[in-house]
Amino acid sequence: MTAHAVEAALRAPHPALSLDERRRAEASTLLASVAARAAIALHGTPVLLLEPDRVRRQYARLRRALPFVGFHYAVKALAHDAVLGVLDDEGCGFDVATGEELGMLTRRGVAADRIIHTHPIKKPAEIAEALAAGVRTFVVDNDVEIDKFRGAPRDTRLLVRLAYRSPHAKSDLSSKFGVGPFEAARLVEHAVAAGVRVAGFSYHVGSQLDDPARFAAAAAETLELMAILERRLTVRFDTLDIGGGLPASYDSEAAEIEEVAALLRPVLEPHARRLRIIAEPGRVLVADAVSLVTSVVGTAERDDGRWYYVDDGLYGSYSNVLTEDVHPLVFAVRDLHAGTRDTGDHRWATLGGPTCDSSDVIARDVLLPELCVGDLLVSPTMGAYTTVTATRFNGRPLTPVATMDRAATTAEVAVTSDVRRVPIV
Ligand SMILES: Cc1ncc(COP(=O)(O)O)c(C=O)c1O
Repeated sequence: MTAHAVEAALRAPHPALSLDERRRAEASTLLASVAARAAIALHGTPVLLLEPDRVRRQYARLRRALPFVGFHYAVKALAHDAVLGVLDDEGCGFDVATGEELGMLTRRGVAADRIIHTHPIKKPAEIAEALAAGVRTFVVDNDVEIDKFRGAPRDTRLLVRLAYRSPHAKSDLSSKFGVGPFEAARLVEHAVAAGVRVAGFSYHVGSQLDDPARFAAAAAETLELMAILERRLTVRFDTLDIGGGLPASYDSEAAEIEEVAALLRPVLEPHARRLRIIAEPGRVLVADAVSLVTSVVGTAERDDGRWYYVDDGLYGSYSNVLTEDVHPLVFAVRDLHAGTRDTGDHRWATLGGPTCDSSDVIARDVLLPELCVGDLLVSPTMGAYTTVTATRFNGRPLTPVATMDRAATTAEVAVTSDVRRVPIV
């Protein structure tokens, strides 16, 4: 299938191809590109292929779908300079959780008024540092945290984090942070007494939510709470932060940006003139922009069948399997180039990671052709919570990230200068 046909299928309202077929076709065109071949030649495997242009396109989709929302990319999803650069160029804002993430942005010269700090619990020194850098929007969810802002500059604006239970989300963030409506009201009163301004509310409906209606329901509930509190406490709010959580399609079709936006628009749009409506998307911007290429380092026949051991695993880029409970697809590269896919000689196999830990198993029951040491595998949708949560367990280097342009016709591949990553040439 040509790249043009893949793009056309992706744009169709009901894609003619299954997710698996689309991902295979995309991976096939990616690996056939000059840039991907150059990146693999330069680094060997494992290597993460990052396409900043796909981040740019996702951001454009978000802007088109919700033009009245101010987006702040959740840097935690993929804190890579090429991603920050492309979003900075496009005028996107940023959401940070730590001083280190803030530092990455200030070093790039991103203006502080484009940055929000959304970690509900922060070290006092970190708050002081963020305030000194000019950041003014922070999230809180308890008295102690509000008190840390006593005496802060007058234009400091706090958002109280609400908790919405999302038992069907892959990560239900409401158990660790956020408060219910009664506690939220009390916190607003506490802040008023402390002389600190509450500008509005934030929440995170949970990541990888399987129910797009939940986004709209949470927005509606928050707007209602804001109206009630404005009447009762004679305060005025001007900000609603609808958080992150827009899903990525890993091994099954997730709601598209446009589908969630169609439900959110009628709820939010009537308030868009009066309120500053912001969002903190993470994975939806970067997940599809990165593919991981690995190779087989060993094979074994065990009681439970065929095992292939590859050179990246749960302690590395596949950390998303552990921390996010996602199941990335894994394709054998030789299958991608095979034209029509004949799986007659394929076997169900287990994919083990490279460490000596027996829990380092990437996937079970993957239908793969007969593979030998050195054969390449590829996983799409590996941009979010992969390299950022990877460890150096067993002394393994972090997988290098090659920044690439799929359309390049010469081997112009920019490679990250992140010193933590040791290229394997
Ligand atoms: C406060 C906050 N905002 C935004 C995000 C981004 O979430 P996602 O990547 O699911 O969009 C997270 C993820 O944990 C978060 O904790």
